[in-house]
Amino acid sequence: MKNPNLLFEFQTVFDTTRTPRFFFAPGRINLIGEHTDYNGGNVFPASISFGTYALVQTREDHLIRFFSLNFPDKGIIECDLTELSFNEEHDWANYPKGMIKYFSENSLKISSGMDILFYGNIPNGAGLSSSASIEMVTGVLLEGLFDISIDRLEMIKLGQRVENEYIGVNSGIMDQFAIGRGRKHHAILLNCQTLEYEYAPIQLDDHVIMIINTNKQRTLMGSKYNERRAQCEEALKDLQTELPLQNLGDLTIEQFEKHKYLIQEETNLKRAKHVVYENKRTLEALELLRQGNLDQFGLLMNESHLSLQCDYEVTGIELDTLVKAAWDQPGVLGARMTGAGFGGCAIVIVEKSKLDSFKDNVNKIYSNEIGYEASFYTATIDDGAREITGGVF
Ligand code: GLA
Repeated sequence: MKNPNLLFEFQTVFDTTRTPRFFFAPGRINLIGEHTDYNGGNVFPASISFGTYALVQTREDHLIRFFSLNFPDKGIIECDLTELSFNEEHDWANYPKGMIKYFSENSLKISSGMDILFYGNIPNGAGLSSSASIEMVTGVLLEGLFDISIDRLEMIKLGQRVENEYIGVNSGIMDQFAIGRGRKHHAILLNCQTLEYEYAPIQLDDHVIMIINTNKQRTLMGSKYNERRAQCEEALKDLQTELPLQNLGDLTIEQFEKHKYLIQEETNLKRAKHVVYENKRTLEALELLRQGNLDQFGLLMNESHLSLQCDYEVTGIELDTLVKAAWDQPGVLGARMTGAGFGGCAIVIVEKSKLDSFKDNVNKIYSNEIGYEASFYTATIDDGAREITGGVF
């Protein structure tokens, strides 16, 4: 997809001849380690070349004007720098508004209003973190525009707070972290309890990572997500009656197997089992990638999907059909859902020379069974949130 002429759009929408500053924040995929972040476990995401662009210039007054090329029907959304509370009518603009509010409340001084134009080329509702991307692009634009000195981790945490407190989805820190700290050709192994992290080079040689969008319209995503989180908390409480644990992520497989009888509800037991085994897989995945053992890594991806399907129950017919179809194709090393689930995207490691037949076959199977097509993208792992200079627009 070709990006629109963003400079032209900015100057037209805001009726100006000035040249704005230009910022970008990527989306993310998660290679493995799903629904572990809010359990203090490990995740292994990478930032991708799709993301959100923001063009911005300051104003003389306190007005903030937002416009998104993705939602042109919503028009210019306006608010005042002194009135930044959540407003349902402001729709998508609540994400950047929340970020501006939390910057201001944390004495990160925003001294004037601004005009901001957003454009995202992350496929809509695909579970590649378009919301964290818009939060983080707002973070870097505020940092750049107002010369604010803010630690990247602090910005990441403010992004997560927007999601949790301002928007009301109880998500973990993975998305903002991956987007805030992303690095070209690398994935990030992050311990979500200590926030220690390390980069792992992703060398795929004759393979690529394909992102496949189920194109399923997701509904009630936030409430199902919050429900999973609550079930994990209940399982943890049961285990804490005997074990000095802070998080499910603290448990070894042996400890879990020995003490799982403490978990009262069958469903909560399944949720906890996924978390403990997925956490272990994530660490194994790091080792395997370090050794360049893509074959075994692929098998871990498959195990991860099955666990998310059977124990965590966040996949659904669309993702399962897609992933199963992918597993059956020649040249595929592994496939799994990525992100929160309930629709969204799968990722697949597939041999370059088999790409065309792979897409044809998978799409045929998928559209026959589901009734509409999937979309295919090649993932390029690229740098995290940043200012773009040099007039590339
Ligand atoms: C969403 C959330 C993340 C993480 C994933 C599941 O993307 O935003 O914090 O919990 O789901 O791994």
